[in-house]
Amino acid sequence: MKGSLWLPAAGLLCLLFALPSLRAEPAGDPRRGEQVYSRCMGCHSLQVNRTGPRHCGLVGRPAASVPGFNYSAAMRKSGLVWDINTLDAFLAAPLKQVPGTTMTYAGITDPQQRRDLIAWLARVQCEQ
Ligand code: HEC
Repeated sequence: MKGSLWLPAAGLLCLLFALPSLRAEPAGDPRRGEQVYSRCMGCHSLQVNRTGPRHCGLVGRPAASVPGFNYSAAMRKSGLVWDINTLDAFLAAPLKQVPGTTMTYAGITDPQQRRDLIAWLARVQCEQ
């Protein structure tokens, strides 16, 4: 009897610990998102500024806040904070969401690809 209760109890415990972390994750597949990110790499890299600012630590920080990057006035005045929703809207249509941005990129039309990409970006922390 003792033995037969142990497995379901352990399963329930795992579920209880797993649930909050599942909810914190954007609903996307980071591995697919990493592939979608190849479209951004013409201008961006994760750890250093290039034509665009570096992308590490993106989720949770205010727009135009990477030190040493020369942002447009439009991005500096946008008042955006990058989270799942603001990134989703921006990546769908950058020039519509932040008129005057120097990110001359048409956007990603497929919502699932945006979710995957954001799930990937949410994982990338800055090395320094
Ligand atoms: C043609 C070059 C180019 C491409 C391609 C590009 N970006 Fe950008 N990106 C920029 C530039 C330039 C800026 C700075 C915009 C500004 O200051 O208005 C920027 C800014 C951003 C910002 C705001 C960052 C911050 O620090 O506030 C995000 C987020 C972003 N890009 C995501 C992406 C993603 C994701 C992709 C790929 C789907 C992508 N970009 C593709 C050039 C590009």
